[in-house]
Amino acid sequence: MTNLNAIVLAAGQGTRMKSAYPKVLHKIFDRPMLQYVIDSAKQAGAGSILVVVGFEGEQVIQSLGPDYQYIWQREQLGTGHAVLMAETALSGLDGDLLVLYGDTPLLEPDTIKELVLRKRNQKAVAAILTTKLNNPTGYGRILRDPQGNIKGIVEEKDASTEEKEIKEVNTGVYCFEIQGLLKTLKLLSPRNAQGEYYLTDVFKILVDQGLPIAGVLTGDAEQVMGPNDRVQLSATEHNLKLKINEGLMKQGVTINDPNFTYIAPQVKIGRDTTVLPGTFIFGDTIIGENCTIGPHTRITDSVVADNTEITYSQVTSARIGSNNLIGPFANIRPGTVSDEHVKIGDFVEIKSSHLGPGSKASHLTYLGDTRVGKNVNIGAGTITCNYDGVNKHQTVINDGAFIGSNSNLVAPVTIGAGATVGAGSTITKDVPDKALAVSRGHQENYNEWKSPRDRQ
Ligand code: UD1
Ligand code: CA
Repeated sequence: MTNLNAIVLAAGQGTRMKSAYPKVLHKIFDRPMLQYVIDSAKQAGAGSILVVVGFEGEQVIQSLGPDYQYIWQREQLGTGHAVLMAETALSGLDGDLLVLYGDTPLLEPDTIKELVLRKRNQKAVAAILTTKLNNPTGYGRILRDPQGNIKGIVEEKDASTEEKEIKEVNTGVYCFEIQGLLKTLKLLSPRNAQGEYYLTDVFKILVDQGLPIAGVLTGDAEQVMGPNDRVQLSATEHNLKLKINEGLMKQGVTINDPNFTYIAPQVKIGRDTTVLPGTFIFGDTIIGENCTIGPHTRITDSVVADNTEITYSQVTSARIGSNNLIGPFANIRPGTVSDEHVKIGDFVEIKSSHLGPGSKASHLTYLGDTRVGKNVNIGAGTITCNYDGVNKHQTVINDGAFIGSNSNLVAPVTIGAGATVGAGSTITKDVPDKALAVSRGHQENYNEWKSPRDRQ
């Protein structure tokens, strides 16, 4: 959207979380609540985004990174005060300003856009998103005149018994004409039950000046949930989880138990894939068609191609090819790439390695910094010794090689194409193509040997 910027308030402590961390950094799935709000603002078309930080502000800045402009509010004197802290940064801007609270993670970009459009179409100076709640306790109530026009907002702690009956509440999502807002913020006073500069008081001031206000009443109260304690945080995550899972099911993904399957919003999953319970799919993950994922699997920031099965395993920042069989109990760490028809079996850990098509590491193996060609068979108990205590070294295992069980490959080392490593070998020198390398003590059988039992 043109001429649209955003400010997100994230300076409060959130005392009811009972936490050393600011409330907005508490997570829904794998990301802080604040990140969701910022992503929605971006997707709604906000050009620049300012974030007001205060309580443990360094943590907030570190979590979000350098892409945003941070404004410090050293003392948390209220939501109106928080926006006013950005006066200098905002004074050079014109157009509209979204004001969002960092604790409304389910707010959707389309809802924000609708609010901005309503403000612009009605030529209002401000717009506010409201919703109706059966139990409005804790929220600011929307005051309307007999014609139904918004005339102000009263906070719970300042509300009369009658006002407390009002079910329509302030969701904390606003759009203001920037320069008008800055002027009005200076007129706020902290004469209220909490001794704070309430942003919500801006509405009454604007109305008293005869300026037009727009209101958007959303029927989707879940979208504007602003959790204040960990019980509400869990309820918020639960709602998002069900919504995402239902969306995926409608697109052709089977999810056996949507209550016990956690899939982050940005994840993409292809048709006819089944996600079994106890599975967490987070980050920028893409899963192909016809896969079976889970049960009890965690996949983060990875790509999984079609027809692959991943069971009881963890996959992080990896690219898994099609028709792979992974797990149970595999740990696929960052930088792993597998081509098609690869098998990575039980208790196999892989890091920064590439496995060519048709290769197998079926049991009890560690591969680190390893390039594996095609149709390689890696026997049970194979370890690449990639670390000398200071540096990491590469292992190369060429096409068609066969690594016998319980072998140590001391890197840097290359196993030639079609070569065989005898079981139990410790390989410290390159093995030529097609050669057999065996390095282990020769077996002696002592036929005359008397065991302690025999000697009794
Ligand atoms: C606020 C609204 C209320 C609304 C509710 C919706 C005000 C006065 N009240 O109440 O009408 O129904 O949200 O959830 O705005 N913050 C700062 N600096 C401060 C105070 C707060 O940055 O000095 C930030 C907080 O980090 C939080 C947001 O502003 O992200 C909202 O603050 P919070 O204390 O949760 O406001 P509510 O009491 O919920
Ligand atoms: Ca709140």
